[in-house]
Amino acid sequence: MAAETLLDSREIPLADPAATIALGARLGAQLRRGDVVCLSGGLGAGKTTLARGAIEAWTGETQEAPSPTYTLVQTYDGPRGQLWHVDLYRLKRAEEAFELGLEDAFVEAACLIEWPERLEGALPRDRLDIALAMQEEGRRATLSGRGKWGARVGSI
Ligand SMILES: Nc1ncnc2c1ncn2[C@@H]1O[C@H](COP(=O)(O)OP(=O)(O)O)[C@@H](O)[C@H]1O
Ligand SMILES: [Mg+2]
Repeated sequence: MAAETLLDSREIPLADPAATIALGARLGAQLRRGDVVCLSGGLGAGKTTLARGAIEAWTGETQEAPSPTYTLVQTYDGPRGQLWHVDLYRLKRAEEAFELGLEDAFVEAACLIEWPERLEGALPRDRLDIALAMQEEGRRATLSGRGKWGARVGSI
């Protein structure tokens, strides 16, 4: 048995930015407190675009969510609680993330995390990993549900 449970994995083609936003919106509509979603992929892969779709669905408001590249985190309140949009690109030490209160947010909020690689082993076991990559003119998302997320990947 593998030490890590990877129950389900799925690929979704995203032809244009609207498709990335729509995937984010489907995700945001079913996120709940305690959910952790890791968005990986290089610069320009579409991580922030996907997060914006999720933020709109979470808050129920159309808004131009700023990228948290410099602030590391932006938080949003919605009917289901607080959503954290985190960008760890500029993180220097893992402790910096915990000084922000990220460990509590893993439990008490829903979290979308860009550049999750910066935290390596400090990420929760139960999480949805979304890897974005270039595909022709568009992008491709690979969704991997780990732990309790395995059963939920199919519903996004
Ligand atoms: N499916 C897609 N096809 C083509 N371009 C996309 C797609 N999704 C997002 N983009 C575009 O890619 C660019 C970078 O997106 P962004 O979300 O800022 O990337 P990241 O946060 O990964 O650096 C933006 O101009 C965005 O509109
Ligand atoms: Mg970004």
